[in-house]
Amino acid sequence: MEFYEELYPKDVWRDAAYDIFDRFSLKGKKALVTGASGGIGRNAAAVFAQAGADVMMADIERTRATLDPLAQEIAERFGTTVVPAYCDVSDEAQVNAMGEQLEAQLGTVDVAFLNAGVVLPGDDYDSSFDTWKKTIDIDLNGMFLCGQLAQKMMRRHGHGGSIIMTSSISGYVMNHMAGNPNPIMAYAAAKAGVSQYARALAAFSVRDGIRVNTIAPGYVWSGIHEGLMTEQAHDVANQEIPMRRFGRTDELHGPLLFLASDASSYITGINIPVDGGYLIA
Ligand SMILES: NC(=O)c1ccc[n+]([C@@H]2O[C@H](COP(=O)([O-])OP(=O)(O)OC[C@H]3O[C@@H](n4cnc5c(N)ncnc54)[C@H](O)[C@@H]3O)[C@@H](O)[C@H]2O)c1
Repeated sequence: MEFYEELYPKDVWRDAAYDIFDRFSLKGKKALVTGASGGIGRNAAAVFAQAGADVMMADIERTRATLDPLAQEIAERFGTTVVPAYCDVSDEAQVNAMGEQLEAQLGTVDVAFLNAGVVLPGDDYDSSFDTWKKTIDIDLNGMFLCGQLAQKMMRRHGHGGSIIMTSSISGYVMNHMAGNPNPIMAYAAAKAGVSQYARALAAFSVRDGIRVNTIAPGYVWSGIHEGLMTEQAHDVANQEIPMRRFGRTDELHGPLLFLASDASSYITGINIPVDGGYLIA
């Protein structure tokens, strides 16, 4: 009985100082976001900053004209330190350099949202080997490089942390890209790889207090659809989604803050689909 009483958790809500919203706070935390110039990435950076984190926003060099002012705008809006970084996630030397910059400017990383990704034109039934390799390089190998960077930094500093990777519904089911008879191939393989890599990393990172989870967006309006999604394809896609509409980037704010913060302290190795019900069917 004593044993039971000792282990049975007390009802923390009885404590006058207890506030569930504190569990969602990232005050004093340091966050890294890759693919941060894009729709999902810049929303994550903003929400982490609003929750109190200092943020490094990383993306490729060619987005500099967008990312520099974005980082400044988010810093001014939410009053935390937000710094841009330029890094191709598929390039090991650039990822290492980003790590050095991260440690120099923010000190460490507590939350790593690894989110950079592409769908390349020609990623279909008759894909060239080059398109296949480039997609795997960015979408899967980039996750490995950044995942390792983050977990090693968290281990070196001994404080644990939360790593979140962006998978996709395409990593779980065949996404026909709005009726396209030639569904995306390398992207699907890469995103399935991301989901299982995240689970493997989660299993081995538990001992270091590091949690690793994924989100799997369905159709969410963002830069990734530019040039790929016609108006007609959009209408077809809407019919494939149980909620009959695309998601908005702000509909990822909740799931991302949940996974990043102590609100999900007992959760690791899971995937949260954010897909309007796409994976139901
Ligand atoms: N929007 C969707 O419907 C959807 C659905 C499922 C998964 N996703 C995933 O969400 C993530 C974010 O995409 P998004 O929707 O915000 O699209 P987006 O195109 O707006 O953003 C992607 C960002 O990744 C960056 N990027 C591309 N290659 C890179 C590289 N080699 N190194 C570093 N950065 C690179 C791009 O510059 C861009 O800013 C991607 O991993 C994507 O696969 C998106």
